[in-house]
Amino acid sequence: MEPLVLDSKTRLLVLTGAGVSAESGVPTFRGMDGLWENHPVEAVASPQGFEANPSLVWRFYSQRRAGAADVKPNPGHDALVRWEEHLGDRFLLATQNVDGLHTKAGSRRVVDMHGNLFRTKCADCPREPFADTTVHPSGTVPRCDGCGGRLRPDIVWFGEMLDPGDLARIGEFITRKDGTRLVFLAAGTSGAVWPAAGIVDEVRSARGDTWLVNYESAANTERFHHFVQGLSGQVLPTLAKLV
Ligand code: OAD
Repeated sequence: MEPLVLDSKTRLLVLTGAGVSAESGVPTFRGMDGLWENHPVEAVASPQGFEANPSLVWRFYSQRRAGAADVKPNPGHDALVRWEEHLGDRFLLATQNVDGLHTKAGSRRVVDMHGNLFRTKCADCPREPFADTTVHPSGTVPRCDGCGGRLRPDIVWFGEMLDPGDLARIGEFITRKDGTRLVFLAAGTSGAVWPAAGIVDEVRSARGDTWLVNYESAANTERFHHFVQGLSGQVLPTLAKLV
C-alpha cells in the first residue's frame, strides 16, 4: 500500500468521526448497536426534542457523559498526536466527536465541530458555555445561575448551525497559500452528516489529495482518492511515513 507521506512540504487536515473512538469503547451513532438505533435522533439531538422533553435529553447526555468519563484514547488517537508533533502548524484536526478524547490524547490543534460533551450552556440566555461533568441520570433539568433558564449540553444538534469561527478555521486551512501540498484524511466517519461530509469536496476543489480510513465503506467513499478499509486504531499507527 502506498504510504501517506508527511514531509516538510505537506499540510494535513484530518476529520474524525465516532469510529475513531469506537476502539476506546465509545458507541458510534449509525449501524448495529449504534446510539441512533435505540434513541430517536429528533428526540435527543434537536432543539425541538429539547423543547418537547428536556428531561429525556438530559438522561441521554448523562448516560453519554458517564460512559465517556473514564475512557482512554486508543492507538488511533495517539498516531494523530505524533503526526501533529511532526507537522506543527501544518496540521489541523477537525473532529465530529464530542468525547474530548483527542485532547486527552494530547492533540492541540483541534476544532470541535459538534461541540463538547463535557460543556454545558444555557438554552435561554447567551452566557458563555462552561466545563461541566455533572450527570442528571433521573432527568432533572439543571437551571442557569444567571437567568434561571434551562441548561443544555453544548452539542451542535440537528438543525443547528456550526460555529462560523470553526468553519472559517477549516476553510482557511484548506485554502492556505504557503506553498505546501494539501492532504486530507477522514477516519471513522460514515459521511452522512453535513457539512463534515462535504469537506472532501472542498479539499478536492483546492486540488488536495484525499484519504479515507474506515471500517466500512462510507456514504461518500467514491469522493476520496484513497480508501483504506480497517480499524483506525490499527491502520493509523502504520499508515503515515514521517519524513
Ligand atoms: P457514525 O456512527 O455515523 O459512523 C461511524 C463510522 O465509523 C461508520 O462508517 C463505521 O463503519 C466506522 N467505524 C466503526 N468503528 C470503526 C473503527 N474502529 N475504525 C474505523 N472506522 C470505524 O459516526 P459519525 O460519522 O461520526 O452528530 O457521525 C457523524 C455525526 O452524526 C456525529 O457527530 C453525531 C451524529 O449524529 C451529532 O450528534 C450532532
